[in-house]
Amino acid sequence: MDKTVLVTGAASGIGLASAKLLLEDGCRILAFDPQEDRMRSELPSCEEISFFGGDVSKTEDCGAAVKQTVSEFGGLDALLHWGAAHSTKRWDELDADESNFIMAVNVTGSFLISQAAARHMMENDGGSIVLTTSASMLYGVTGGNGQGGPAYTTSKAAIIGLNRSLARSLAPKVRCNAVSPGIAETNMIAEYTEEQRSAMTMRFPMGRFGEPEEIANAGIFLISDKASFITGEVIHANGGSNFN
Ligand SMILES: NC(=O)c1ccc[n+]([C@@H]2O[C@H](COP(=O)([O-])OP(=O)(O)OC[C@H]3O[C@@H](n4cnc5c(N)ncnc54)[C@H](O)[C@@H]3O)[C@@H](O)[C@H]2O)c1
Repeated sequence: MDKTVLVTGAASGIGLASAKLLLEDGCRILAFDPQEDRMRSELPSCEEISFFGGDVSKTEDCGAAVKQTVSEFGGLDALLHWGAAHSTKRWDELDADESNFIMAVNVTGSFLISQAAARHMMENDGGSIVLTTSASMLYGVTGGNGQGGPAYTTSKAAIIGLNRSLARSLAPKVRCNAVSPGIAETNMIAEYTEEQRSAMTMRFPMGRFGEPEEIANAGIFLISDKASFITGEVIHANGGSNFN
């Protein structure tokens, strides 16, 4: 695939897997994450990659990352936005500060990075955007033991509305879709206990959690030309766990 892609959350998990898969596939990537040192140590240094240590909840970081992509690679074809903050607090532990922080990173951040990318795409040759929601929104997970709680779940539900709104606003020049991962083997589930892992695995007809690459590939499909008639959609990459 011959595309220039801005990948957020590129230091870890699904974002890191996406960055590696895109490089292998011949793309140029701008790797964006607050954990800049980690990104640089996990990803190769080569002409096809540029690093940006930043936070998607800051308008200036989003604009600067798009500017850096265009100045280094001559354009921007796609945004794969995986970066997110996690919150595991239950309903009776969560406070306004944590709730506001999660909304700022996951909801406003999804909007700001999309807006920055879309400004370039709409004025140039178009493109495509992929946001990330979560199966936690379907399950209604309650928090505790490393699971997403109400702040995280609410933020991921809001992204479905943002996806639909952007898809309609930006069509036909820019497509916007979302991936909804089920549980995938990344840092985000590092606090699960063995007991919890086996209880959760029972919900998966596939009998296991996902690998980061299996989620990344759903996003890579959505930015590819093979998905040229798909916009405003959500792809559920969750081993069938939403129909349990
Ligand atoms: N792993 C799962 O089970 C699972 C399930 C459902 C949804 N998801 C979603 O998949 C996406 C990727 O998560 P992951 O599992 O790879 O987790 P991860 O913790 O391995 O990676 C998340 C990355 O996001 C980055 N990040 C945090 N705050 C940021 C900010 N302000 N700006 C930019 N980047 C920021 C982190 O530094 C980290 O590198 C997230 O949107 C997450 O909500 C994951």
